[in-house]
Amino acid sequence: MSGEYGLSFKRRHLLGIEGLQPFEIADLLDRADGYVEQSRRTDKKLSTLRGLTQVNLFFENSTRTRTSFELAGKRLGADVVNMSVQGSSIKKGETLIDTAMTLNAMHPDVLVVRHQDSGAVELLARHVRCAVINAGDGSHEHPTQALLDALTIRRRKGRIEGLTVAICGDVLHSRVARSNLHLLLTMGARVRLVGPPTLLPASMRAFGADLFFDMRKGLEGVDIVMMLRLQLERMQGSYVPSTREYFSLFGLTRDKLAHAKPDALIMHPGPMNRGVEIDGVVADDIDRSAILDQVEMGVAVRMACLDILTEPLREAA
Ligand code: CP
Repeated sequence: MSGEYGLSFKRRHLLGIEGLQPFEIADLLDRADGYVEQSRRTDKKLSTLRGLTQVNLFFENSTRTRTSFELAGKRLGADVVNMSVQGSSIKKGETLIDTAMTLNAMHPDVLVVRHQDSGAVELLARHVRCAVINAGDGSHEHPTQALLDALTIRRRKGRIEGLTVAICGDVLHSRVARSNLHLLLTMGARVRLVGPPTLLPASMRAFGADLFFDMRKGLEGVDIVMMLRLQLERMQGSYVPSTREYFSLFGLTRDKLAHAKPDALIMHPGPMNRGVEIDGVVADDIDRSAILDQVEMGVAVRMACLDILTEPLREAA
């Protein structure tokens, strides 16, 4: 039993936010809340995961997610292995499934996987016995990012339910947008998606979000402004006339931010492109920007995910 719902997260993997129940999200957030203080202590190390092995397998670049998963595992006492794709047999043509089955034979307890293809992490999870955490797959989902965003919002605003959140920019290519959309709607927030028509598919309305192609209108009266990176590496062809014009229409500036509530929080998952989707002055505004809080919450959320997913193993031992 856990949290206000009296129920706890019991799944084998964390592959996405879609389909999670409010009590499951609340359980993960409640657990993560406890780990925020733990991570601020001088002695950060616990022995919760002692004897367990965590393998981080990142097929795509990462600073925040990979480092925070490594710190999270180590702070919980796990043996953490970072597998470098660059130096692995994947470079010799080994398939994803063969890589999964090879790692499985070494008896890891948790696999943390980032992959450039949507659905690849779920496919891999079908071929291993251990818990799998999706650290971002293509433009599909990035569940721990949405959880850390939710924890940031909950701690800064005291709630998620009833807030209006504008997710702005390159929604089309963003796994962060999809995971956040599912989480925020599940937890009772209102979601607006804001961006140019080329990067904001009308099909997103089906999820229950309101779409805005004018940023000033989209930000009118919102509690949270969540900016997205322009994902040039996922674009084949031209989606914006120029980054300069994109900044002028959809970059977050003080002028556009003035349309949001006076205490609206500014968020960005990182990495940021200053002067493309966000003005550096706004990103660095210590009164409004929660961007570094998000990074801090990332470690706590990943500790909570590792803790919850390995609980059945520890109980069985
Ligand atoms: N937000 C995020 O996933 O950042 P990284 O790509 O640095 O992990």
